[in-house]
Amino acid sequence: MSTLTEDTQLGGQKLKRIVFTEDEVRRRVRELGAEISRSYGASDRLLVLGLLKGSFLFLADLVRAIDLPLQVDFVVAASYGASQVSSGELKLLYTPEASLEGRAVIIVEDIVDSGHTLSRLLPLLREQGPSSLEVCALLHKRIQPLDWEPRWVGFDAPHEFLVGYGLDYAEDFRHLPYIASL
Ligand code: PRP
Repeated sequence: MSTLTEDTQLGGQKLKRIVFTEDEVRRRVRELGAEISRSYGASDRLLVLGLLKGSFLFLADLVRAIDLPLQVDFVVAASYGASQVSSGELKLLYTPEASLEGRAVIIVEDIVDSGHTLSRLLPLLREQGPSSLEVCALLHKRIQPLDWEPRWVGFDAPHEFLVGYGLDYAEDFRHLPYIASL
């Protein structure tokens, strides 16, 4: 991989350091896919839900590493509230048209930061009666104890502003194949 200063994908934008390289991400996503594959059977009717937009690359790579029949759909949610740590209300802008009832559902999230997004989303999805509802998060900052925890976590994340592999700063940097700090 090229160095940060030479990276043609940055177009002159500056990053502080690479936190997880493209190779580290690729290997860990494969491991997560193998772990998930061992945890379900074909009769579970697995539904993998990507929480947009941050999860789009992780979701795409993860489902290709899962050796099971599954379906893919998305959830789009918007947080409303005064602070940047999404303490406000969560509004669902898109949810799967098919019912979650009786299905094994995995929510795929790029990063658990405060945990507020999923603390609000999980009860809404549980109302639809999935047979199980789990979270697979690529990154987890472990900022505070949560009354739910992701079943699968790619990496414990440093308490820095992270971008790349789906994560953005003002919509920039999502396309980077590695995770870096600003
Ligand atoms: C980011 C990220 C998570 C959430 C985590 O989404 O993708 O979904 O924040 O933060 P929390 O644990 O503190 O709730 P964002 O709202 O920035 O939208 P995006 O996925 O479209 O970037």
